[in-house]
Amino acid sequence: MEIKNNTILITGGSSGIGYELACQLQRMGNQVIITGRDQARLNEAKAKLPGVHAIQSDIRDPEAVESLYASVAAAYPKLNVLVNNAGIMRKINLHEAGRGLRDLSLEIDTNLTGTIHMVHRFLPLLKNQQRAAIVNVSSGLAFVPFPISPIYGATKAAIHSYTQSLRAQLKHTSVKVFELAPPSVQTPLQHAFDAADTKGMPVMDVRKLAELTLRGLARDRFEIRPGASNLLKLISRLSPALGLKLTGGSLKHMLTEAK
Ligand SMILES: NC(=O)c1ccc[n+]([C@@H]2O[C@H](COP(=O)([O-])OP(=O)(O)OC[C@H]3O[C@@H](n4cnc5c(N)ncnc54)[C@H](OP(=O)(O)O)[C@@H]3O)[C@@H](O)[C@H]2O)c1
Repeated sequence: MEIKNNTILITGGSSGIGYELACQLQRMGNQVIITGRDQARLNEAKAKLPGVHAIQSDIRDPEAVESLYASVAAAYPKLNVLVNNAGIMRKINLHEAGRGLRDLSLEIDTNLTGTIHMVHRFLPLLKNQQRAAIVNVSSGLAFVPFPISPIYGATKAAIHSYTQSLRAQLKHTSVKVFELAPPSVQTPLQHAFDAADTKGMPVMDVRKLAELTLRGLARDRFEIRPGASNLLKLISRLSPALGLKLTGGSLKHMLTEAK
């Protein structure tokens, strides 16, 4: 896809990967709109990225998605790229009793349902543009489960599957469908994890991740798998058991810690 002269909406653009994509895409001559739940973090991002428009919106809330659509469609009728980046990741010990269903569903509501709602709501607008794209952010953990974050991994595997189907269904439209599967990247998402959780996993700098993403988009690489994500996909095909062994190394630490 052409990576300049677009109007781009990035969910979760107030920090990490979304923020860095907003920064680099704006520099390349795109109009960028970012979202997030926390107004203070959005204000901080906006102060550092003048020209970027920020809208507070929670992708878990269907009414907020509706109102986001109404604001964006009115102010930016030429919107042609949607980046579904907002996501959360937690360590979850499945032995723990007493977690409510609402709590257990947080990753599903954000990473999976939120993305599906956004696509559903914005697709008619995107299909009206001469050239358009949807970029769904999954993870290298879409290919191999990560036992200490079992629900997160399940949502990313689901996003991988959903994105393939979406691409197939939109094949004869103006909308190109991309999946960005980042490896482990240094962002606030990682703050809940300590060295023992991620031991042995190489961590990519967020600027490099964004550069590789833009390169992949420009070359129409529909599944962008930077760094270790490419390896995880290969391992998942050659030896799923080895993949699980690699990502499951930190499980013992979590279970012992909990005792
Ligand atoms: N970092 C990694 O190692 C890594 C690896 C693979 C994939 N990913 C994926 O990359 C994406 C971005 O992650 P990141 O590492 O950049 O994390 P991050 O720094 O924590 O940023 C997440 C962004 O999403 C927003 N967000 C969270 N929940 C939201 C909601 N319900 N509605 C709207 N915005 C929401 C956050 O803002 P608020 O909290 O203010 O809402 C923030 O702007 C996620 O989908 C993540 O799963 C990350």
